[in-house]
Amino acid sequence: MNSPNPALSEILFASSRCLAAVQTGHSLTEALAKLPSKMRPAAQAVAWYAMRHWGLAQAWRDFALSRQPKPWLSCHVALTLLLLDAAMIEHGHAGEDSLQSPLDQYCPRYAPHTLVDQAVRAAELAKQGKAGCGLVNAVLRRFQRERPAFLAAVKHNPVARWNHPAWWIKKLKANYPKDWQTILDATLTPPKLVLRINRRLTSTEQVLVAFHVAGYRCRSLGQDSIMLEDSAVVSALPGFTQGHWSVQDQSAQLAAPLLGLRDGLRVLDACAAPGGKTAHLLELADVKLTALDHDSSRLARVKENLSRLQLMTGDVTLKVADARALEQWWDRQPFDAILADVPCTASGVVRRHPDIAWLRRESDVSQTTMLQREILDALWQTLAPGGRLLLVTCSVFPEEGEGQAQAMLTRHADAIRLPAPGQILPEPATDSAPGHDGFFYAAFERKALDR
Ligand SMILES: C[S@@+](CC[C@H](N)C(=O)[O-])C[C@H]1O[C@@H](n2cnc3c(N)ncnc32)[C@H](O)[C@@H]1O
Repeated sequence: MNSPNPALSEILFASSRCLAAVQTGHSLTEALAKLPSKMRPAAQAVAWYAMRHWGLAQAWRDFALSRQPKPWLSCHVALTLLLLDAAMIEHGHAGEDSLQSPLDQYCPRYAPHTLVDQAVRAAELAKQGKAGCGLVNAVLRRFQRERPAFLAAVKHNPVARWNHPAWWIKKLKANYPKDWQTILDATLTPPKLVLRINRRLTSTEQVLVAFHVAGYRCRSLGQDSIMLEDSAVVSALPGFTQGHWSVQDQSAQLAAPLLGLRDGLRVLDACAAPGGKTAHLLELADVKLTALDHDSSRLARVKENLSRLQLMTGDVTLKVADARALEQWWDRQPFDAILADVPCTASGVVRRHPDIAWLRRESDVSQTTMLQREILDALWQTLAPGGRLLLVTCSVFPEEGEGQAQAMLTRHADAIRLPAPGQILPEPATDSAPGHDGFFYAAFERKALDR
């Protein structure tokens, strides 16, 4: 099913460049997208694995480099290689019974000396010079020798143990005194691939048959959802080009049905890109839909996705605009239903985007909370009396969940809270179940003030 993998040193080189980009504040997804397609699956598997072990790797770097000259501390690629390879050595040590990760498909559990040799070659590819390659070699060989002592030394270091920033762990502990460890465990377990079937074009049964015929192991999760047992390149799976399904986590699949759509309603998807939930709305009913996003390149992906799924009809309008600036985009015709899948820290989807934990800063929580509030206040004005607004965030931080929902009720006397799942905590994948992401859902109806 897969073409031959690139050499390990090339994979390490490509992934370390992407991880260096994360360290300067860029998204891993964007960095990976710039790699040649042949390299991408393996580099992605390695980089994701490394991000899930980044706290431990950082602890090692601090320990190992405490005796190194300071100029090395600014040498991103060599440092990233050290971090990356330390994580990979952990992969080699992971028990045979540990859950198979996508990494196993591209990189077997290499012996530590092989990983060190290949990291040195990667440092050569990265033109790190004799001194840089020597540093990578010396520090990683030391890691091999001193690993047991190092692991014992960092046993009580929460960042090394939980592979999340200290502020994040502290926040989860404060908000979920009983569940914080379960949440972090779930977040560190790679997800299984879950697909939502496009019921306009096909059925779960037909998709299952097509996958089995093509040799993929998969099974129904009920409703329009199936799970793939193995990792795979999405665009190579049967029915992708024909638009028979979309990749969507089970928690995210709850959104569209919660709006209670009927044919003919006027619907707004206010923060639509890349369009996973937009497509689901259109699969459920013949509605007149406006999909809004302030980012034109991301909105282009909505068009691409709807076109692939054969949902880009005359009833769909795409608009690039800031949801808060009503004068830019609203024609003053009220909407019957609004999906407000507002921007957030994405702290609930770290299991599928492990770079998020390392990209966020603690101050981001209050900033996104404020932005969400402004977007919600603007959207509320566009909702028809009797209409429904669904607030969605893929976060586990209560400020972006229940806190936001309560504040909404305080600010809008004409808002009635409807039943919705509230906070969904992430659950880890097992061999037989896909687990799910962390999400928050709150639904509101707008009553007429004089009723
Ligand atoms: C959580 S994502 C939406 C995911 C999408 N609903 C889906 O299911 O595929 C949030 C989106 O909000 C957009 N966004 C952020 N600030 C915005 C604003 N002020 N107005 C409109 N869109 C905004 C972002 O560009 C991003 O695409």
